[in-house]
Amino acid sequence: MNGQSVSVKDVAQRANVAVGTVSNVLNHPERVAEEKRKRVLAAIRELGFVRNDAARQLRAGRSRTIGLIVLDVGNPFFTSVARAAEDAAAETGSAVVLGNSGQDEDRESHYIDLFEEQRVQGLLISPVGDVSDRVMALRDRGVPAVLVDRIADPTLFSSVSVDDTVGGYLAARHLLELGRRRLAFIGGPDSIRQVHDRRLGAERAVAETPGAGMEVFEEKELTVLAGRAAGDRLAARSKAERPDGIFCANDLLALGVMQSLTMLRDLRIPDDVALIGYDDIDFASSAVVPLSSIRQPTRLLGQTAVELLAEEISHPDKHRQVVYEPELVARASTVGA
Ligand code: RIB
Repeated sequence: MNGQSVSVKDVAQRANVAVGTVSNVLNHPERVAEEKRKRVLAAIRELGFVRNDAARQLRAGRSRTIGLIVLDVGNPFFTSVARAAEDAAAETGSAVVLGNSGQDEDRESHYIDLFEEQRVQGLLISPVGDVSDRVMALRDRGVPAVLVDRIADPTLFSSVSVDDTVGGYLAARHLLELGRRRLAFIGGPDSIRQVHDRRLGAERAVAETPGAGMEVFEEKELTVLAGRAAGDRLAARSKAERPDGIFCANDLLALGVMQSLTMLRDLRIPDDVALIGYDDIDFASSAVVPLSSIRQPTRLLGQTAVELLAEEISHPDKHRQVVYEPELVARASTVGA
C-alpha cells in the first residue's frame, strides 16, 4: 500500500490500539501512554502512513477556505490581489472567499464575523482602520490573520504591504523633475493609511524643492466619479490658480480627473496639467492619454499573503512583515507622447 492509501484504521489494527488512540498520537501525543505511543509510531513507519491534511483540517472544524476582505472590490487593484491570492490558495487545495468592506468599518466587522462563523482557515484583510483588537480576538479563537496592503505591528500579526511613503515621494518628485511647481494631491479619506502615507511622501518631495507647493484635496471615495468631481473643481479655476501637476492617490481618481480635464474641457494633459496616479491598474496604460502611475506588485501581494497565512497557521507565535517597493511608470500623461 502507498502512504496515501493507508488509513488511520490500518495503523490502529497494526498497533493493536483503538482508532481514537492513533488520532491522539497524531494530534495530542501527550495524552497517550509512552508504550502505546511507540507502538503507533512504529506502525505508522512500517505502513508508510501519511496523514490526510485536508481531512485533518475538516476534522478540526476548519474549512478549506480563506476569507479575504478588501477595501473596494470595484478597484482593479484589489481584484488583481484577490486573483493572485486565489491562485496561490488553489495550489494547496484551498479556495478564497472575497468580502468587500467598501471602506465601511461596520461592513468589515460583519465580514469578520461571517468568516469566523464559516470557520475559515484564516483571514486576509486590507483593513479600513485599526482592526488589531478585532483580529487579535479572532486569532485567539483559532482564526489566524494576515494584513494585506497594510504593515502590521510585528508583535501581533504578519503583513504584506508596499512602502506607500516611498510611492508618494516618487510620484511628486516625478512631477517636480518635469518642472511642475503648483502641485495638487487628490486623495481619499486620510484615515486610510495608504492615502495618508502617499500624501506624506509627496509632501516630503515638495519640501525638498524650492518654489514648489502642493494643495491637498481629500475626497470621500477613491473612485472615478470622485476624480471627475475633483477635476471639475480644478478645471473651473483660472490658469494662474490651476495646478500644473496633479498626483492622485490611486489610478481610479486619476482616470476621473483625466476625463474631466480632457473630455469635458479643452485642457491638455500633460501640456497644461501633468497627471499621475497610483497602482498601475490595467486601465492606466490604455487610457485616452496613457496614465503615468506608481506600480504596486499586486500578484506578489496576493501570493505572499497566502504564504504568510500558511506560516501563521503552522507557527502562530511567529510573525513576518514583507514590504515591497513601488515603481514609477512614466507614460504620456506626464512626459508627453
Ligand atoms: O483603496 C485605496 C488604495 O489603497 C487602492 O487604490 C490601492 O492603492 C490600495 O493600496
